[in-house]
Amino acid sequence: MKCKIILPSVIFAFLFINTSCSQQKRPLNFDTYNFLEEAITVKTSSGEKQVIYKAYLHIPYVSNPVDTDYQSLNVYVPVSVNGSPINPSNAPILFDIAVGGFMSVNNAKVKEPSYRGDLALAAGYVVIAPGCRGWDNCSPDRKYYGKAPAAIVDLKSAIRYIRHNKRKIPGNNEHIISVGCSAGGALSALLGASANNPLFAPYLEEIGAADASDHVFAVACYSPITDLEYADMAYEWMFGSTPTESGLVNQRLSEQLQKGFSEYQLSLSLQGRNSFGTLTAENYRDYLTTYYLIPSLTKFLNEREEAQREKYLQRNTWITWENGSPSFEFDDYVKHVGRLKGLPAFDDFGKGQPEPLLFGNETTDARHFTDFSLRQISQNRDAEVEEDVKQLVNMMNAFYFLKNGEGKIAKHWWLRNGARDNHTSQTVMINLVTMLENMKKSVNSWIFWDGDHCADHDPEGFIEWIKNITTD
Ligand code: DHB
Repeated sequence: MKCKIILPSVIFAFLFINTSCSQQKRPLNFDTYNFLEEAITVKTSSGEKQVIYKAYLHIPYVSNPVDTDYQSLNVYVPVSVNGSPINPSNAPILFDIAVGGFMSVNNAKVKEPSYRGDLALAAGYVVIAPGCRGWDNCSPDRKYYGKAPAAIVDLKSAIRYIRHNKRKIPGNNEHIISVGCSAGGALSALLGASANNPLFAPYLEEIGAADASDHVFAVACYSPITDLEYADMAYEWMFGSTPTESGLVNQRLSEQLQKGFSEYQLSLSLQGRNSFGTLTAENYRDYLTTYYLIPSLTKFLNEREEAQREKYLQRNTWITWENGSPSFEFDDYVKHVGRLKGLPAFDDFGKGQPEPLLFGNETTDARHFTDFSLRQISQNRDAEVEEDVKQLVNMMNAFYFLKNGEGKIAKHWWLRNGARDNHTSQTVMINLVTMLENMKKSVNSWIFWDGDHCADHDPEGFIEWIKNITTD
């Protein structure tokens, strides 16, 4: 009896001394035994699938976390599909990023996979859903702790954690596929473009990320909100003469931004398909129409029954349909889409959009991140964004890393947008597609006709694509 009483107190005293003296960091070992077994029914085009899976919930992925509600992840591992056992040991790993609006993802609240995650489980893949910090994170003493680059630092740490535990977490850690939409799409692209870049090293070290590589094999982005430094210019290129609900934006300022877009687009020197030549502000309408919008509309119209198609064409008289081929004027298409945001669309003068909030710091909620907005606000023609903000803007932009072409850039890219998305200019994603095509990456791109922001009209196509790129 004595012993039983003494032993725990000895152990307790030892643990206490040990943790308080050496400030022990959290271990980063994945506990293979701590899971719940769950069942779901997944609707697929080949019928309903009964999936049994293991859910390992809320696992901190860094050893020195700022907030484990956010810096934790869930692992979902398929056990059986329709009663047939699954061996997940070599399965692809879908890294499912739920970030929207560059805001935090609270992993403590997530208990189940997303619909995309369900489909992946039904295909026998491992699914990992990471939480991460975002611009909205604020401590009780009013310190912001999720401003840029916190989200990407956390996601890289989660990838490192997976690799650090490669013998314990089922799945092939050389087949990690990241996916996200909008801000999540931007972060997914950033993972694929900036693997192991030294710019992130001090941040990763600070939170105690595992010492492992953070590259991903493949990237999927739906409606990526990226290239933020140039996004205001691109937005005016597309929507400058389209009124918002409260009328036209300031045309003088819009033209200034459009001029910036012309210069920027030229500086990228991107080469269109089939010897189209360099993409410019002048020929981009033609390029988008020929290579993306017409194929998308053609598919859309051909998939419809005659009566349905006729009805659609009667409601959209700006489209001409002759001998099975549609045509339209780009300006009419833009009118059909409509303008969502004011001017500037991202670095807005009131700093209320997600992007100035993203580039705040510990004590400042929002900061301008473009010279244009800073100059307008300060009425100083020479004002320039501070170096530290410039650096953060680069660190949040896949283009910055792709342009430099260093490191291990993801091999395979799946890029999707809705034709009616008005959250950013269509040129943003198509520039990304074209840059990757010019780099000879394997790129699968499509614009869904009449799809909105984050549209996904082909979720099973994505699952199939993963199968194709991960089986030789
Ligand atoms: C998202 C949408 C936006 O319009 C934006 O500026 C940033 C992010 C989003 O849906 O994640």
